[in-house]
Amino acid sequence: MIEFRAHGKLFVAGEYAVVEPGQPSVLIALDRAITARVTEGHGAGSVHSQEYGNLPLTWTRAEDGLALDREHHPYDYVMATIDLVEKLRAELGIAPRFHDLRIESQLDDASGRKFGLGSSAAVTVATVGALDRFYGLGLSQRRRFMVALLATIRVAPRASGGDLAASTFGGWLRYSAPDREALAGLLDERSVSAILDDEQAWAGFDVEHLPAPADLRLLVGWTGSPASTTKLVGVVRRHRDGDYAAFLDASRACVDDLTTGLRTGDADRTLAALRRARGLLQGLGTSVGSQIETPRLATLCDVVEAAGGAAKPSGAGGGDCGIALVPTDGDDAEILRAWEAHDIRHLSVAVQPEEGTT
Ligand code: MEV
Repeated sequence: MIEFRAHGKLFVAGEYAVVEPGQPSVLIALDRAITARVTEGHGAGSVHSQEYGNLPLTWTRAEDGLALDREHHPYDYVMATIDLVEKLRAELGIAPRFHDLRIESQLDDASGRKFGLGSSAAVTVATVGALDRFYGLGLSQRRRFMVALLATIRVAPRASGGDLAASTFGGWLRYSAPDREALAGLLDERSVSAILDDEQAWAGFDVEHLPAPADLRLLVGWTGSPASTTKLVGVVRRHRDGDYAAFLDASRACVDDLTTGLRTGDADRTLAALRRARGLLQGLGTSVGSQIETPRLATLCDVVEAAGGAAKPSGAGGGDCGIALVPTDGDDAEILRAWEAHDIRHLSVAVQPEEGTT
């Protein structure tokens, strides 16, 4: 059996700005993952997960023989990924084989509620990785990321892909995105292989590992309420005005400062940058800012700041998780007690070490 694990993620800084090509962000990969397992298919193959139950796949005739039947499946991350990998497989002249894909997630709680740790990205990266091995496509780590981003564009055209980068490359990382609108245009015109080979098409994409912060410990709190990234990204987009350019500049400066804090092992600078990143999200405007930093997320962060650390909503905000860095010589007990008193669950997670770049 072929198996591929792809990690969950948290945004540390640069959210919203990172949707613009070339705008930097910082993320971490977590030691919780989604695993995709592939075996030779029974019948025409299937996808099995908590969300789908057991979903048989159906196929239509295409140039190379077979293509996923789009009308009879939900066209989501898993299906878009299977579709794109099959296209690439055909381009590489590899014969199609039916497959059963089983997906298991550590990014949900026992009742299936999502923690907001990048499960869509992780399932996409895990599916690319498992099918790459199943077909022997020989994709490098960088190309697995690229294929995952191209599949994601089909479902969520504005997504930055930061979560895919964390899931693929692991560790602490600085990420900026390519122009996905331009890539979407290319997807209609060219082969997947040609897009992967076209360096110009990926301008703006950059990923670089950063050292973990010195003398600081990561704490993650879960608010228990799900957030809609697509909705919030849309709200922020509608509120783009003259201040937007200033927001992008300030976000870049904040991410640069955080990067320096991490590279130089300067805990004070790192904490200051994280507090600034919180302020930037709050500053997106009262109507937008308060949708991002909900009252529970505000409490989560205030408690940490009062104890000498720094915290902010992670990702789109509006619920999901808050991320905190606290001095290693401090006492976390007070923070955890206060979180519990406000129904904020401490998620016991660690950073997944980097996977190495190729
Ligand atoms: C969502 O996790 C983070 C945003 O920056 C959107 C994205 O990066 O696609 C708000």
